[in-house]
Amino acid sequence: MPSPNFNTLEQMQAIIQAAVETKSPVIMQVSKGARNYANGTILRYMAQGAVEYAKELGCEKPQIVLHLDHGDTFELCKDCIDNGFSSVMIDGSSLPYEENIALTKKVVEYAHQYDVTVEAELGVLAGVEDEVQAEESHYTKPEEVIDFATRSGCDSLAISIGTSHGAYKFTPEQCTRDPKTGKLVPPPLAFDILHEIEKRLPGFPIVLHGSSSVPQDEVDTINAHGGKLPDAVGIPEEQLREASKSAVCKINIDSDSRLAMTAAIRKHFDEKPGDFDPRQYLKPARENMKKMYIHKIVEVLGSNEKL
Ligand code: G3H
Ligand code: 13P
Ligand code: ZN
Repeated sequence: MPSPNFNTLEQMQAIIQAAVETKSPVIMQVSKGARNYANGTILRYMAQGAVEYAKELGCEKPQIVLHLDHGDTFELCKDCIDNGFSSVMIDGSSLPYEENIALTKKVVEYAHQYDVTVEAELGVLAGVEDEVQAEESHYTKPEEVIDFATRSGCDSLAISIGTSHGAYKFTPEQCTRDPKTGKLVPPPLAFDILHEIEKRLPGFPIVLHGSSSVPQDEVDTINAHGGKLPDAVGIPEEQLREASKSAVCKINIDSDSRLAMTAAIRKHFDEKPGDFDPRQYLKPARENMKKMYIHKIVEVLGSNEKL
């Protein structure tokens, strides 16, 4: 299922239009940063508005989850649960193992009283500054997943198999370069770890964060219109397609929406320097994000025609 982040009205509209047109369920994610940027109350009512908007667009029974992305404290998760979120993530992945379990368990015990589901994380997503060796040591250890899921009581588990956040997922040194295009070709995800986890936790919902593919046409548009994103690189879509056929049932995509929005706005400003009404440049930005979401839903995640 797609789990896009939203901070703005345009992202929310693009997500809902794409989900309705493709008959896909959707998990709308709000991060701590989004709450700081747009205000938690506004985002909550926007999500409520999203459900009504989906109905207005012709979807009789929209399946829209409002989910806290990367909650880092019990208090933040509790606040979201108390304010009507249907799902929260408690990200204790940077904590020592036992502390991650204890924090996750505390959130689960509170959340389950209100039928709110809890996503946890085990293993640390790589940062581009890491050495390959260090990244591997942060991968989720399959031998820990049964103990972690059982003792924490989490409903789904985000794992680390080589994805990372942002538009720079790998350094040029970690990639090879396609001699024809000059573009970076990233190393493959650790599917062996994913499959080992699936074996140990049959049927348990697995989550992949940091799963933007960083579309090179958007990067090129940005760079051609005054932007500067040299060697931005993401997770190839074939690998996400493969992952979506496994126990992975939630694939987090945020950077691709940022890129689609930025590319459309930069292009618009370049071509129509006289425009200054935000609706003039936010409309193509919204269209471009919608196109990207439809592509992901139909061509990559396969969550279309499910409503
Ligand atoms: O995983 C992070 C998401 O892309 C949200 O990013 O914290 O900048 O809103 P943010
Ligand atoms: P990307 O930066 O790859 O879009 O990842 C988003 C994410 O994991 C949100 O939690
Ligand atoms: Zn994430």
